[in-house]
Amino acid sequence: MGSGIAEVAALSGCDVKVVEANEGALHAGMERIEKSLNRAVRAQKMTEAHREEVMGSISFSTKLPSLADREFVVEAVVEQEEAKLEVFRRLNDVVDDPEAILASNTSSIPIMKLAMATNRPQQVIGVHFFNPVPVMGLVEIISSLLTGDKTAVMCQEFASDQLGKRVVSSQDRAGFVVNALLVPYILSAIRMMESGFASAEDIDAGMVLGCNHPMGPLALCDLIGLDTTMAVAESLYEEFKEQLYAPPPLLNRMCDAGLLGRKSGRGFYRYG
Ligand code: 3HC
Repeated sequence: MGSGIAEVAALSGCDVKVVEANEGALHAGMERIEKSLNRAVRAQKMTEAHREEVMGSISFSTKLPSLADREFVVEAVVEQEEAKLEVFRRLNDVVDDPEAILASNTSSIPIMKLAMATNRPQQVIGVHFFNPVPVMGLVEIISSLLTGDKTAVMCQEFASDQLGKRVVSSQDRAGFVVNALLVPYILSAIRMMESGFASAEDIDAGMVLGCNHPMGPLALCDLIGLDTTMAVAESLYEEFKEQLYAPPPLLNRMCDAGLLGRKSGRGFYRYG
């Protein structure tokens, strides 16, 4: 489960377990949650006692088998098909309850492919959150051809009634609703900058001040991560074979260079 998702689940009263691949990722995830909760305490939106209670309801581990007793699992590993398939194969083996829901926070990978890595495809579903998860009000729910109605209804109720998010449903097509619209827009902005049409600052100012977007497309790409944007674009291109989804060479080169946006300290802008 991603740290933002874990945070909102714990805030809504769930008993949460976070499994990360290694100790470094585990500490980074823990720090992200603490930072976000501290921000809420500073803004007087939360008491210190409540922060402690929320932190106390989240346990952290690097061992996937610690998820054996879970009723609802959200996979949120890197946006690579093989990595996600491996997690679903392992979840199928370790999660005891045959009725447990195995959800993916994938941005773009077809749920059907993940479901077929298990022998319980009727319990596999897409539950797609948006960055930053505590702030963004939307969750996309994606049923595959084999997802059971009970699984879909339980996810819908969990996201809306428990987490308080607005749910939109999408067919199981790469990019679902939001990324199928958002990613070509971001790719257009990168092409515009790459061709010398306008600077990054002017492109972003154009969309912030001209269209009242909270941030411009290049700053948003830095927030999402250039590698994630690239992975979503590749999934969209593979699915639809349309030029508007093709990652521009500049995005490719920046990923090669490790200029991945906020998380690496530099993307279209510099941070920290
Ligand atoms: N955790 C918790 N709260 C946060 C936060 C975080 N990481 N970041 C910001 N906030 C809260 C602040 O506490 C503040 O709350 P308040 O208004 O109650 O005081 C509020 O959000 C605004 O924060 P700031 O004043 O610090 O900053 P901004 O006003 O500049 O807003 C932003 C920052 C919320 C990130 C805003 O710029 C925004 O909404 N940007 C667009 C984000 C977006 O489009 N996300 C979707 C990305 S696509 C995606 O995720 C899908 C994936 O598959 C690719």
